[in-house]
Amino acid sequence: MLKIITIIGARPQIIKAAAISRAIRNHFPDRIQEIIVHTGQHYDNSMSQVFIDELGTPQPDYNLNIGSASHGKQTAGMITGVEEILVKEAPDYLVVYGDTNSTLAAAIAASKMHIPIVHIEAGLRSFNKSMPEEINRIVCDHVSSLLFSPTLTGFNNLISEGFSYKNKSPFTADNPGIFHCGDVMYDNSLFFKKIATDKSNVLDEYDLENKAFILSTIHRNNNTDQPERLTAIFKALNKISTDNQIHVVLPLHPRTSKLLDKNLDSNLLEEVRSNPLIQLIPPVSFLDMIQLESHCQMVVTDSGGVQKEAYFFKKPCIILRPETEWTEIVDAGSGVIADADEKKITESYRQLMAKSGELNYPPIFGNGTAAEFICGVMLENE
Ligand code: UD1
Ligand code: UDP
Repeated sequence: MLKIITIIGARPQIIKAAAISRAIRNHFPDRIQEIIVHTGQHYDNSMSQVFIDELGTPQPDYNLNIGSASHGKQTAGMITGVEEILVKEAPDYLVVYGDTNSTLAAAIAASKMHIPIVHIEAGLRSFNKSMPEEINRIVCDHVSSLLFSPTLTGFNNLISEGFSYKNKSPFTADNPGIFHCGDVMYDNSLFFKKIATDKSNVLDEYDLENKAFILSTIHRNNNTDQPERLTAIFKALNKISTDNQIHVVLPLHPRTSKLLDKNLDSNLLEEVRSNPLIQLIPPVSFLDMIQLESHCQMVVTDSGGVQKEAYFFKKPCIILRPETEWTEIVDAGSGVIADADEKKITESYRQLMAKSGELNYPPIFGNGTAAEFICGVMLENE
């Protein structure tokens, strides 16, 4: 029996982990034992437990309850906590997702104990080291033994950094194996789409049935923490909604909710709050999010996961960042990088609407079986 420890902590990791847990349950229940460790990086019910309850991610076996803190303090607490669990459980693999502080902390703890690391969502790069995520993902990739890239661009980034696709099993941190395998988030979107249609009543709840609406999420630190950037984004959303009489729905990350009063010009905030077309709502569950994504007219976001889901559901997307790791979306023409620039955002809306009927969404995120593939490789390399 292969014993793996899966690290979750931030919202998207709890969602991604559901795909691997489902693959283990359905295909390898007698061959893989999974222990779930939640770092507690995200802790509000709407950022954590709701996904565990809804998506079948197993209840965590451990919760470090680290919570929010500065990067150093948060990461240090997680390293200590994960190390203690690794000593006790002695797993065959540590599985980590993405690029958060939980990913980094667990990778540091496991690498020093020579526990092979499996990095799911390896190879993604923004080439912008002012992002905490870029540091986290580079460090994690370079101490991992099995690296699974969802896209060809991610796979090629690894090769550019010296990884070789010619390495042969057994894979180790010094002889890592790299794989281009598709995206576990795509697996999830396919799997949960019908369930979301049957179970979610978010469209009813926010009176969106038969209404055209833009779905927007904003949580990147460089957008929430810089008043001029946050202001430019909200000015653009306010203008797009008023000029086009289109609804805008914003499920707000707690980071953003907490900073609106502080970092948004008070007149603009008042305008946004009194605009009947703009709905600022609490974070929604994944099934609700899928419903919103699949029924919206367009997505406007700085989230990595939401950019991809827009593509999965064939929706144009305005990216509120200076660059993206998911370059294929921009190459395909359905994603436009507008940064936090009011003019670029409003112009991107106009351009995407003008060509919305002609947009193409070639299949670049696999075929919905990335999680099974990853489990298979872990078992072969045992
Ligand atoms: C983190 C990740 C980011 C990821 C995002 C997913 C890092 C460095 N960043 O960003 O890559 O895209 O998660 O959502 O790991 N807060 C709450 N309740 C919660 C969680 C957070 O109120 O349950 C608030 C706190 O004020 C906290 C702030 O949000 O200080 C930021 O949380 P944190 O986990 O540090 O970073 P995120 O912005 O969520
Ligand atoms: N998500 C959700 N509810 C929300 C906002 C996002 O379920 O209110 C989901 C979204 O569908 C995607 C993931 O959370 O699967 C993306 O997480 P987030 O935007 O927090 O982080 P990122 O992907 O940028 O790291």
